[in-house]
Amino acid sequence: MTRIKLTVDGMAVSDDVEPRTLLVHYLREQLGKTGTVVGCDTSNCGACTVHLDGQSVKSCNVLAVQADGGEITTIEGLADTVPDRADGQLHPVQEAFRECHGLQCGYCTPGMIMASVDLLNRNPHPTEQEIREGLEGNLCRCTGYHNIVRAVQYAAEGEQP
Ligand code: FES
Ligand code: FES
Repeated sequence: MTRIKLTVDGMAVSDDVEPRTLLVHYLREQLGKTGTVVGCDTSNCGACTVHLDGQSVKSCNVLAVQADGGEITTIEGLADTVPDRADGQLHPVQEAFRECHGLQCGYCTPGMIMASVDLLNRNPHPTEQEIREGLEGNLCRCTGYHNIVRAVQYAAEGEQP
């Protein structure tokens, strides 16, 4: 076992993990962060996307020990990153997905939103093509891509859906 220390959704945590433990399994099974989901386990679908030190990563493709010392944000802590957040207020990208109905079954949604936040951090005003390319590592089995792209545009521009 290896001891790791990291910050997850603003909380300092310290745990013993096996060196082979995947970050997604650590988050879900040891920390109970089940908002981060597993869609494939083969780094194809993006459902497990979280932020590690501000950048989106597929947490099934990262070992927990590789995140040692890092700062993780999951979908569960995303809204808390909004400065001066009012009680119950969503992150603007969560709000955009809600407004534009950017989800169907919702399984891909945590990863889509985390990837979209990272995309918008790097490119606050992406074109439709840039959004599609930026989210190409995230798959939606319900094929709800049209509204997902609209949601990212809505978040970027504040446009009405
Ligand atoms: S579960 Fe990580 S990419 Fe699919
Ligand atoms: S909304 Fe069902 S997988 Fe994307």
